[in-house]
Amino acid sequence: MEQADADIIAELRGAGLIGEGDVVLEPLTGGVSCDVWKVETPTGPIVVKRPLAQLRVAAEWLAPVERGTSEVRWLRRARGVDARLAPEVLAELPTGHAFAMRFLPGCPVWKDELVAGRVDAGFAAAVGSGIAAVHAATAHNDADRDAFPNDDMFRALRIDPFLLYVAENDAELAPHLRALAGDLAGRKIALVHGDVSPKNILVSAEGPVILDAECAVYGDPAFDLAFCTTHLLLKAVWLDDARLTEAATALVAAYRAGIDWEDPADLLLRAGQLTAALLLARVEGKSPAPYLTDPEHQRIVREQARALIAAPSPIDALVTHWKRIVA
Ligand SMILES: Nc1ncnc2c1ncn2[C@@H]1O[C@H](COP(=O)(O)OP(=O)(O)OP(=O)(O)O)[C@@H](O)[C@H]1O
Ligand SMILES: [Mg+2]
Repeated sequence: MEQADADIIAELRGAGLIGEGDVVLEPLTGGVSCDVWKVETPTGPIVVKRPLAQLRVAAEWLAPVERGTSEVRWLRRARGVDARLAPEVLAELPTGHAFAMRFLPGCPVWKDELVAGRVDAGFAAAVGSGIAAVHAATAHNDADRDAFPNDDMFRALRIDPFLLYVAENDAELAPHLRALAGDLAGRKIALVHGDVSPKNILVSAEGPVILDAECAVYGDPAFDLAFCTTHLLLKAVWLDDARLTEAATALVAAYRAGIDWEDPADLLLRAGQLTAALLLARVEGKSPAPYLTDPEHQRIVREQARALIAAPSPIDALVTHWKRIVA
């Protein structure tokens, strides 16, 4: 056993989560940003998550391990809004911003469901309502603002790679993307999860359970709506499945119904601009969608995204007009 594993086990014992018997850390994912293990305990399975200092992607993509603590704070805050929305945190471990949460048995990852052709617009709507509920509960709230002062991390993990990296290589769109990046960095409205992707959502009998809140920041709630919608629109092109655009429509409509902290038209326009930029980033950026390898798929996304960055459209209209195939 590696020393790091022995340390985790000792800390789980210290937290009173496991007894003295043999304990196995079973790796859960090939995740790029964290070590994630499943551990059997006397009170049922748990998940232990520990952030890596260097992401397992491109070189020089460093991220401070304090994001483990941000994630714990987000999970607890979201459960305070609606306990079905996030797993229960059981303990924060003393070393490396690792933590333990309850394992949710029998809950597939939403992305796997979508890829298998099980597309449920009602579930997408529940995702939209869930993220809107967290935004509504935290909007214009000084305590939440003070608890998530993670602007540097959000810049390093989201604004730089998804918006500014693309701007460096695209002189024509650079002014639009730089203005969008500046606006996103400056807007302090609500608690943003920062990584609302189908990969980070479990499908439980009680609705969506949102994981992986390492990028949480007090910022612009339009980002979460845009980020999740982007994933659905990319998958609609990849899988050429109209039900994925319908799922995006349901997500946006349900989210919109939950906006009570600002004029929905303002938020929907910002979300449309961000979606356009994120779509382009997934074909041109530092973190391209791994499944969008077909040059024709890339062209479909690139052409629509570039036009939408130059001439923005509110996210609801963007989704309505999104083309999976271009004649
Ligand atoms: N509480 C939980 N209950 C059940 N499964 C979980 C739980 N937490 C995490 N998982 C599983 O582990 C996977 C990775 O978790 P998470 O997304 O938090 O880690 P990550 O390292 O940030 O992953 P990635 O970088 O791949 O997004 C999830 O997709 C899910 O399959
Ligand atoms: Mg994840």
